[in-house]
Amino acid sequence: MPKGSACDWDPAQYQRNAGFVPQLGEPLLRLLAPRAGERILDLGCGDGALTRHLIDAGCAVVGVDASAGMIAAARARGIDAHVMDGHALHFDAPFDAVFSNAALHWMTEPDAVLAGVHRALVPGGRFVGEFGGHGNVGRIVAALEHALECRGAATDCPWYFPTPADYRARLEAAGLVVDAIESFARPTPLPGDVGGWLQTFGKPYLSRLPAGRRNACVAELVDTLRGALCDEAGRWHADYVRLRFVAHRPAGG
Ligand code: BEZ
Repeated sequence: MPKGSACDWDPAQYQRNAGFVPQLGEPLLRLLAPRAGERILDLGCGDGALTRHLIDAGCAVVGVDASAGMIAAARARGIDAHVMDGHALHFDAPFDAVFSNAALHWMTEPDAVLAGVHRALVPGGRFVGEFGGHGNVGRIVAALEHALECRGAATDCPWYFPTPADYRARLEAAGLVVDAIESFARPTPLPGDVGGWLQTFGKPYLSRLPAGRRNACVAELVDTLRGALCDEAGRWHADYVRLRFVAHRPAGG
């Protein structure tokens, strides 16, 4: 299985439990400021819900994702989409911009990803992205790891959540110039309880348990996390921290 696809995705389950992901990506689209005619690579395009906005803005877009299920869903939206491991991008300077929303935390070898992004950009081309920053879903991760430890399973984190300083250093080491980088808390309303989030996104952890024990573990986690993530009106939030950046490949580099 390629890196960056610790689980293959079920597009229907994703749309049910994670429809907020493309909706909350709209500020990032504004930061990208796509112009008609630009060639854009959407790195980790998922089912293409956000990618469509780039096409509607008149851009020539290629989407890549490690999940075959998501790529099938993106193609069904009419997107030129390909199964590709983000650690092994094989494009040679055809793109005016690389865009990535809520995907880079799945790619746990960031230097390999950034080398491919640099190669994919024309000189002067920009790289605009947002993903989980340091401390992202900290309460959920702590509860998951505690639950796994109690059951004798491995507890290592499957995601990459860097600080702005760490990611800036890697962008620069890859030959990119950082125009802006920031991290901020963004408590994110969930469509149901945290169980849906865990069943959709928590698979890299939950798959360490025998299949027959996962649902009971999720039910226990919903109880554990209720006090921290559910308000008095019964509304659940995930404790997201976003790392957002704009960088570019220098004209001569
Ligand atoms: C995120 O978007 O922050 C995220 C999604 C799934 C798993 C971990 C983090």
